[in-house]
Amino acid sequence: VSDTLKDPVSAVRALPLVQFDARPDVIDLGWGHPDPGLLPLEELRSAADEAARRWGPDLYAYGFAQGPAPLISWLSERLGEVDGRAPDPACIVVTAGASGALDMLVTLSTRPGDVALIESPTYHIAVKLLRDHGLEVVPIARDASGPDLDALTRTLDRLEHEGRRPNLFYTIPTFHNPTGTVTPLDRRAELVRLAASRGLLLVEDDAYRELFYGEPPPPSLWSLSEPGTVVRVGSFSKTLAPGLRLGYLTGEPGLTARLAQSGLLDSGGGIGHIPGLVVAVMAESGFYTRHVERLRSAYRERRDALVGGLTEALPETIGLNRPQGGFFVWVRLPQGYAAARLLELSQANGVSFMPGNAFSLTDGLDTSLRLSFSRYGPDQLAEAARRIGDAFRRSGTES
Ligand SMILES: Cc1ncc(COP(=O)(O)O)c(C=O)c1O
Repeated sequence: VSDTLKDPVSAVRALPLVQFDARPDVIDLGWGHPDPGLLPLEELRSAADEAARRWGPDLYAYGFAQGPAPLISWLSERLGEVDGRAPDPACIVVTAGASGALDMLVTLSTRPGDVALIESPTYHIAVKLLRDHGLEVVPIARDASGPDLDALTRTLDRLEHEGRRPNLFYTIPTFHNPTGTVTPLDRRAELVRLAASRGLLLVEDDAYRELFYGEPPPPSLWSLSEPGTVVRVGSFSKTLAPGLRLGYLTGEPGLTARLAQSGLLDSGGGIGHIPGLVVAVMAESGFYTRHVERLRSAYRERRDALVGGLTEALPETIGLNRPQGGFFVWVRLPQGYAAARLLELSQANGVSFMPGNAFSLTDGLDTSLRLSFSRYGPDQLAEAARRIGDAFRRSGTES
């Protein structure tokens, strides 16, 4: 008889409360999670009280399928301020984070065996999500400015030749995960043109748009396109709190209507009804805008601590970006060094990160690594950089 059957109560008690698996004495730069110290706990609590006072039983009812009206109207205005143009409220659906948006979209627009294109490297868990749906995932090479459009054209031609058409292309033009880069406006415009001419649906992951540390990023692919070419997914996980499970998508009204009429929303009502109304309170009071401004300076300081620390601790032959937004620093080791070996030595030295190959379908990124600066304060990030530098020196002396 297993321990769980003998003592179900203690087995339940042993279940963790949160996803992050903290290891004592390890500064873990592998996770792109917000620092718990930056979560606005008091304001979340008082906004929940205010939502309950204001909406009473309607807060606890099945929500309107597309999402709660106060959140949708505010989102429409906010995107008009932080992006190239405001979506009409009819073009927005509230979702369970960017992940929930992707999942709903893929459920609606694909069947097992269909093809999804991704840029490589990319956010590794999006690949997992696409594969959960039985999709064949095909990589498109990218450079520092985004997807390689010649490679994209060649892949579209090859698939067409085989009588196949990809259902979507998942791309992260703004503060890319894992490389931190931004696709410039001209490449965005070309990508949108190419997608429109080939009837390719672009799925734009815009989770980091609001977290910029210098100039605001260029307009989204969604805002540059004609209706029907792009669906953009967004999130409150990085700007408020991931446990809210709140995000949204913007698409053409036919698509949002089909989503709102899907079995999931028809049966269960709007997703994120309670957190959506809590966030609507925080948005209306002006708190959200002030909070995002505070986050920008907190994360800018963290980025500088990590990039500054790595610049001191590692030789000049290291390739290191200084991301203008988002959560990630992408490091390229000189030839002859391996990220997997550096990871082993770093972990023994009390620091961890993600090796580059985790973000690629084809390997080939053995000398790259992703470091996240979101979860720790500047002092710990500087210490993490020292530990990585120390591990790097030792990895170079091995043969
Ligand atoms: C590019 C990207 N998309 C989506 C997500 C997940 O977003 P959400 O919490 O809104 O589901 C993350 C989180 O790390 C991410 O980096």
